Amino acid sequence: MEGFTWPRRQDFNRFLRARKIKQRFIARPFQQCYIDLQFQGNTMAEISAPEFSGKRIALGVSGGIAAYKAAEVLRGLQRAGCLVRVAMTRRACEFIQPLTFRALSGSHVIVDDYAPDNPDPIAHITFSQTADLLVVAPATANLIAKFATGLADDFLSSTYLASTAPVLIAPAMNTSMWKHAATQRNVATLRADGVHIIDPDEGEMACGTIGPGRLSDPERIVKAALEILRNAAAPRGQDLTGEHFLITAGATREQIDPVRFLSNRSSGRMGFAIAEAARTRGADVTVVAGITSVEAPAGISLIKTESAEEMYEAVRDNISTATVFVGAAAVADYRPAQIEKNKIKKSQRSLVLNLERTTDILESVAATRRDGLLVIGFAAETENLVQNALQKLTQKKLDLVVANDVSRADAGFDSLNNSILMVPRDTKAPVELPLMSKAQAAHHLLDEVVRLRSLAKTSTAAQQKQAR
Ligand code: CTP
Repeated sequence: MEGFTWPRRQDFNRFLRARKIKQRFIARPFQQCYIDLQFQGNTMAEISAPEFSGKRIALGVSGGIAAYKAAEVLRGLQRAGCLVRVAMTRRACEFIQPLTFRALSGSHVIVDDYAPDNPDPIAHITFSQTADLLVVAPATANLIAKFATGLADDFLSSTYLASTAPVLIAPAMNTSMWKHAATQRNVATLRADGVHIIDPDEGEMACGTIGPGRLSDPERIVKAALEILRNAAAPRGQDLTGEHFLITAGATREQIDPVRFLSNRSSGRMGFAIAEAARTRGADVTVVAGITSVEAPAGISLIKTESAEEMYEAVRDNISTATVFVGAAAVADYRPAQIEKNKIKKSQRSLVLNLERTTDILESVAATRRDGLLVIGFAAETENLVQNALQKLTQKKLDLVVANDVSRADAGFDSLNNSILMVPRDTKAPVELPLMSKAQAAHHLLDEVVRLRSLAKTSTAAQQKQAR
């Protein structure tokens, strides 16, 4: 083979040492190697638990320079107790041989549904529908585009479409390809479809460029996969039955004159996502919406308002039957002290608007709450996220504050996704969640509601026992 040289043993050993991988046994060099990779330290031992034993993972490998790292992902999942089967794209086979994955997984590696050596005649259906989780690492820009548009022209993309299991993908590509508007659009579509995505790491790429695009650390991919399995194993079901949520959503609009107003960029998506998630988990839901640019979910009561004052009145009228209040609206803090009857003419060189404070709806609900009402607020911040969130938690006497950085272009206001940080009143320990769809973020918020509710029940039971 012209230009081909076998890698020297010492180079391979250096590579393994640099990645902190212990080498147990290498039978033949690279092309036909049986490798047993072991993560050093006890990180993997910590996450290996009986709950993952026998979980079936479909691992998809697409064609990028990082394809070899999929072997580390496979071994990490196996160490946690999972059974892993591998599917590869044709291009992936040019970077690493199927034999490597066959040896490591102990199973046939599927590249082509229609290959005569494929033991299963309709493999993409059996493969996808018998898996508890589909992990794709690395996922190339091409594969992401196929997933986002629903193209199913090879085994891996057909498997994705046929799968009803949760999906985790770890993109890896050249920095410009990752940053390209088309890729970002496709990634946003997948997130909105509920796909979990581990953003690539920043660093020096194989092509020499420096920036985001490198496959995330295999250990992080394994941890994320196990976290998804853990969440899926604890189905949320109807765990909010009996609760009545009152949620504010969207932006308020403060009139200046008959044609102008003060408002903000809130779309109402986050509030509606919480409403929809709570409804699917069995709660009764009322949403007091300001101005919104998206459809409200079905199956909830919707009260439409415009100004902060109208929103406040609607909340006041409905709070007595609520058991959980969520202030997800972006409420104006100030409104014009007086609304001009006629359109303001541009007769002056400059114009000063006199503004006055609106009522803080959230603070007022928390200050006048009955026993048992959980009060949850948001903190829209552009700096000092944790500090400001903690301040709002204590100042407004909340049970939970959900902070988001509204200066991010890929999350928060008017975005399909959110990257939230939650601080509950009992621990005051910030829990930071990665970028995810607003629907997924809503479920995490509701998980906290369930936890806070069970805390309250435990402490009431303890008090009653003491009183007896
Ligand atoms: N909020 C409210 N009524 C207001 C202002 C805010 O109910 N008049 C609620 C929001 O719905 C959110 C929380 O208070 O749940 C925090 O809103 P945010 O805009 O982040 O902060 P503010 O309290 O307005 O303080 P600041 O603007 O100084 O950060």
